[in-house]
Amino acid sequence: MGTYVVAGGTTGMGRGLALHFLRRGDRVTVVGSDPAKGRLVLDEAARMGAGDRAAFIQADLTSVAANVRVIEEVKARHDALDGLVLTAIRHFSRRVETPDGFEATFALYYVSRFLLSYGLTDLLERGENPMIVNICGVGITKGAIHWDDLSLERGYGSIQAMLQGGRATDLLGVAYAANHPDGRTRYLLHHPGFTDSGTGSLKQPTKTIIKLLAKLMGQPVEKSIQPIIELMDDPPGKGLLAYDRRTPVDPSLPTLDPENARRLYELTRHLLG
Ligand SMILES: NC(=O)c1ccc[n+]([C@@H]2O[C@H](COP(=O)([O-])OP(=O)(O)OC[C@H]3O[C@@H](n4cnc5c(N)ncnc54)[C@H](OP(=O)(O)O)[C@@H]3O)[C@@H](O)[C@H]2O)c1
Repeated sequence: MGTYVVAGGTTGMGRGLALHFLRRGDRVTVVGSDPAKGRLVLDEAARMGAGDRAAFIQADLTSVAANVRVIEEVKARHDALDGLVLTAIRHFSRRVETPDGFEATFALYYVSRFLLSYGLTDLLERGENPMIVNICGVGITKGAIHWDDLSLERGYGSIQAMLQGGRATDLLGVAYAANHPDGRTRYLLHHPGFTDSGTGSLKQPTKTIIKLLAKLMGQPVEKSIQPIIELMDDPPGKGLLAYDRRTPVDPSLPTLDPENARRLYELTRHLLG
C-alpha cells in the first residue's frame, strides 16, 4: 500500500489522482482550503470503500504557517511517503498580498510547492520509488520572474502573475534536483495540456467562456492524468523529469536554466528567513 499527499486534491487533476490512488488501495491525504470540497472527496472515498485510507487537511496554502502545519500533520501521521502531488492553484483577478508579504499567486503556485517539496523530503526519501509531481506549465516559455518585484507591487495582471508562478515552479524542479543529486526522490514537472478543470476560481464572464472552451477543446481530467500515472508507475530516469503530456521537455530551455534556478532558490530561502 503506497502513501500519497495531494496538495490541491479536492478538484480537477489533483482529485482525479487522489481517487486513482484510493481506487488501487493506497493511502491518501488531500489538502485544500475549502472544508466542503474536502468533505466531498472523503464521501467519495467512503463510497468506494476507502474511507479508512483517506484523510483531508484543511489549509490555505498561500500561508507559510499553513504549509508548515501541513508538513507537521503529515509527519505525525506517516513515516514515509511514496508520492507528493503539487497541484493547488487559484486565479486572483486582483493583486492579493499574503500576511507573509508574497503576492498570492506566487505564494500558492511557487512558495507552497517549495515548502512542501523540501519539507516532506525526509519522508519521501523513505518511500518506495518516491516522486514529487508538480503539475504546472513546464515547456511554456512565456512570462518571466520579476526579480526586482516578485510581489508585482509595481504593476499587477492575473495572467502575468500566473506566468511568473509557472516560471518559478519550473525553476523549483531544477533547483530541487540539483540540491539532491544522490536523492531517491524524482521530481516530475508535468504540463497536462488544456484540461476541462480549473475554472472554479475564475471571475465572470471569463469563467463561462473558458468553461465552454474547456468542454469543447480541453481533455477530460481522466485523460490528462493518465501520462502522470504512467510516469509515476514506470519512471524513465532519475532526478528531474519534465514532460508536456507524454513528450519530454527540452532541458536546455531558458525557463529551466540552472543558474536562475539556483538564484531563485537562494532568494526564496532568504525571503523565508
Ligand atoms: N486546467 C488546465 O487546463 C491546466 C493546464 C496547464 C496546467 N495546469 C496546471 O495544473 C494544475 C492543476 O490544475 P486544475 O485544473 O486541476 O486545478 P483546480 O481544479 O482548480 O484545482 C485546484 C485545487 O487547488 C486547491 N486550492 C486552491 N486554492 C488553495 C489554497 N489557497 N490553499 C489550498 N488549496 C487551494 C483547490 O481546492 P480549494 O478550492 O478547496 O482550496 C483545488 O483542490 C495547476 O497547477 C495548473 O496550473 C492546468
